[in-house]
Amino acid sequence: ANLVQAAPTTGIAPDSAPPVSREVTVLFGSQTGNSSGLSKKLAKKLEEQGLQVTLSSMGDFKPNGLKKIENLLIIVSTHGEGEPPDNAIPLHEFLNSKRAPKLEGLRYSVLALGDTSYEFFCQTGKDFDKRLQELGGTALVPRVDCDVDFDEAAAEWMNEVLASLSSTSTGASTVTTEAVTAAVSGGESEYDRTNPFKAEVLENLNLNGRGSDRETRHIELSLEGSSLDYEPGDSLGVFPENHPRLVEELIAAMGWNADERVTVNKNGDQASVQEALLRYFEITAVTKPVVEQLAKLNPGSGLTALLADDSEFRTVMNSCDLLDLVHDYNLKGIPAGEFVAALRKIPARLYSIASSSKSFPDEVHLTVRSVRYEARGRERYGVCSVHLAERIEAGDTLPVYIQHNPNFKLPENPDTPIIMVGPGTGVAPFRSFLGEREETGAEGKTWLFYGDQHFATDFLYQTEWQRWLKDGVLTKMDVAFSRDTEQKVYVQHRMLEHSKELYQWLQEGASVYICGDEKKMAHDVHAALTTILEQEGGLSPEQASEYLTRLQHEKRYQRDVY
Ligand code: 2AM
Repeated sequence: ANLVQAAPTTGIAPDSAPPVSREVTVLFGSQTGNSSGLSKKLAKKLEEQGLQVTLSSMGDFKPNGLKKIENLLIIVSTHGEGEPPDNAIPLHEFLNSKRAPKLEGLRYSVLALGDTSYEFFCQTGKDFDKRLQELGGTALVPRVDCDVDFDEAAAEWMNEVLASLSSTSTGASTVTTEAVTAAVSGGESEYDRTNPFKAEVLENLNLNGRGSDRETRHIELSLEGSSLDYEPGDSLGVFPENHPRLVEELIAAMGWNADERVTVNKNGDQASVQEALLRYFEITAVTKPVVEQLAKLNPGSGLTALLADDSEFRTVMNSCDLLDLVHDYNLKGIPAGEFVAALRKIPARLYSIASSSKSFPDEVHLTVRSVRYEARGRERYGVCSVHLAERIEAGDTLPVYIQHNPNFKLPENPDTPIIMVGPGTGVAPFRSFLGEREETGAEGKTWLFYGDQHFATDFLYQTEWQRWLKDGVLTKMDVAFSRDTEQKVYVQHRMLEHSKELYQWLQEGASVYICGDEKKMAHDVHAALTTILEQEGGLSPEQASEYLTRLQHEKRYQRDVY
């Protein structure tokens, strides 16, 4: 075998003969930073076992190098409708193309991150697993698919990988597998996703003017005493509470006594069912594992038939909450304790941070739009946004953690021009970017494209942009208020109107940042960039697409989209 004589990068010092170490490559594909955080943890553990580790973002990895790899570990999340995260797209495409090489000597394993409330749960991880197998690879340990609450499943997968590699690696075989804890975030702080910090709310304001269709909260939180630190582009995870009215209605529909005690976690801690449904469990999303559990608890309910009908299940998953399910499938009769045991832990919501910690030390600011709509005759609420809008005020505390996002970062060079496209709440990270550039005295040009419905009521942080324009921190700003004119104008229309200058900036080395709605806005803005390259650079559609891929590769085209 082509074992490589190489000293481990860290860990085990050779006694007499140098240990023969196996090489392992860890590749991550990450949109929000979870996969990259987990990969770093894994790499550290592997090195501690005397393995020689190459850790890389999929975006920085040359696919031709695959043939030379003996052990490959992939940690990848799934985005949108089953799509790979931006930095995983090139490798994903390569493996699915005719250019993909045979990989017969390869041993690999995949950790897939995802969310069971989406139809294409962990699709990207499944794709990688399938392709690597088709190309001749052998699974080191089976793929593990994680739901949003991934810590435990990820730690188990890591332990299996470590055990499997150390039992087959000469020189590392005597090292025992130490349990890995897989919480990712927080840096030097003791607080992270599994141990959130209770941040005091300093401010909670509605940024929209009277008469607006929108409600957007500007929330300021104190991080004092937490040692939590963040950079522009990072996100804040916030654990919300469910709407008390929904909890009440659910308890009434099930006929439970609100004070009945139920178990809320693996430690066996107890709370009233009311408290459990408010704080501990998700009651809005309908996910497959939850429906499977409920089907077992009430075999006559019709849930089993629902699970067997893919298209009907998809409809229910995309339009119902638990209360709908209880009504439609007559779930009354399931005891409270068994019912909550079937539920998913309430997941934290991630918000792009709207402040620079250099402008606001020990604080973190968020820009949160309230989600409210009606369906089937009942008002529906975004769990976290409406919790923040209706039930949180200055003086309250919120459980939070920092989610580092390596995929949305200011250029290292302060002279690099930046183009920022952020309609609606998508503007949040750019308030952080400009605050940072102001505080550090960066000289690079800056250009902001902003849009929302109405100038008079929806111009978020208007006075701050104006001050930055005056001070020169912001070089240019173009706005698109979509409902002030007969014809809708969006940010991409403003970009096209300035195509010459925008192309000029790109040629000067500008980085482009897009934040906000993924499905429509980010897609249309991408198309506008393509048009600008064709029009101003004389590129063919293929060349324009290659140009943008290259920008992405050079980290000059970054997206934080949702
Ligand atoms: P609309 O609501 O009038 O359609 C922030 O939400 C802003 O983004 C709003 O002005 C919204 O316009 C606009 N928007 C909606 N769809 C968009 C798209 N495909 N591209 C860009 N902006 C869009």
